[in-house]
Order: sequence, then structure tokens, then C-alpha cells
Amino acid sequence: MIAIDGPAGSGKSTVARAVAARLGLNHLDTGAMYRSVAFAALRDGIDPSDDTAVAALVQRLSIEVDEWVIVDGEDATEAIRGSAVSVAVSAVAQNQAVRTELVRRQRAWADEQGGGVMEGRDIGSVVLPDADVKVYLTASDSERARRRAGESGQPGHDEVVADLARRDQVDSSRAASPLVVADGAVVLDTTDRTVDEVVDAVVALL
Ligand code: DC
Repeated sequence: MIAIDGPAGSGKSTVARAVAARLGLNHLDTGAMYRSVAFAALRDGIDPSDDTAVAALVQRLSIEVDEWVIVDGEDATEAIRGSAVSVAVSAVAQNQAVRTELVRRQRAWADEQGGGVMEGRDIGSVVLPDADVKVYLTASDSERARRRAGESGQPGHDEVVADLARRDQVDSSRAASPLVVADGAVVLDTTDRTVDEVVDAVVALL
């Protein structure tokens, strides 16, 4: 089990996918699960900050995260990356009932797989504290903004920087499972490294 955490734009998804491919393991993007809950709240006209309503929603929600993201049978792969979901997801991720339910599903995934690569914000600290390898990825603010702008292709650079700063702040300061460097995690700065170099560094920790 390999746990990969870090802020938005640190390279988590790219690195987690590449590490999984290199080792022939499956990969779980837990951020896509939080995004799926935010997507469903918006779909149902539920205020993402309404903790009680969102807590009830997550209990009945079917979420499949693989190459595609399927929410209640609907393909939400693209919609969960849109700006409406990106704004709504912070409120959803602060909801302790949502976290408890998603962490339960993430641990079930890990038990079924017997080995895999999981990425998120609290994987090494909360979900899989006994993972074989724990990595915390970082990158400079401007590099993270550059990567995010490249991903979405739409918003301007300043907007991306502002959105990243807002999300970092919310993710790091929230009461429920804030983004932290987990005990035993190795911090890797990806700013000036290629994907292959980072993958080499992660695999070398096994
Ligand atoms: O990695 P991402 O940008 O897709 O994550 C979306 C949001 O979900 C982000 O605001 C942080 C939150 N998240 C979380 O709280 N815990 C996780 N394990 C993964 C993501």
C-alpha cells in the first residue's frame, strides 16, 4: 500500500497513476470521491454547506472511481473537474459525516485490493496510517498554478493562483482531517523533477 498526499497541483494524480502503472497496482483518486459528492449535491439542488443534507446524500450515493467516474450510474468524469464542483468541494470535504463514510469506502477498497496506490489529503494520516510507503508531494506555488492552468486550460493564471491559495487554506486549516505531513511520510518536492524521477524516488522507498 502506497499513500500519496499533498496540496492541489503538487503532482499527486500524475505520480500516483505512474507509480501504480510501474508496479502493476491499482490506483484510487480519493479527491474524485469528494468531488463526486459535491457534484451530486449540486445535481440535487442541495447546498454543499448543509451538513445534514449532504451527510444523508453520501449514505445513499453510488460512486465508482476508476478510469471513469460514475455517480449513481451517470458519467461524471468531466463534470467533477468543472469550476462549480471545484468551488463546492471544499465545503463537502469539511463535513465529518462525509469523511467518515468515504474513509470507510477507501479502506474497503484497500482491503479488497491487497495492495494499491491511494492519493488524497489524509491517506497517510487517517485512511492508511500503516501504509508501506507514505509520500507527501510539494511543489512551488507558481509551478502548482502552472500545472493547474494547463489542466483546465480556461481560467487565467491569477484566478488559478487565487483558487489554489483558497483551497490550500481551507484544506490545511479545517478541523476534520486537515492536510498535514503524516507521521513517517517522506516529503518530495516535485518542482524541478520529471514524473519519472519522482516515480523512481517513490518506488525506491519500497
Ligand atoms: O485532489 P482534488 O483537488 O481532486 O481534491 C478535491 C477536494 O477534496 C480538495 O478540496 C481536497 C479534498 N480532499 C480531501 O479533503 N481529502 C482527500 N483524501 C482528498 C481530497
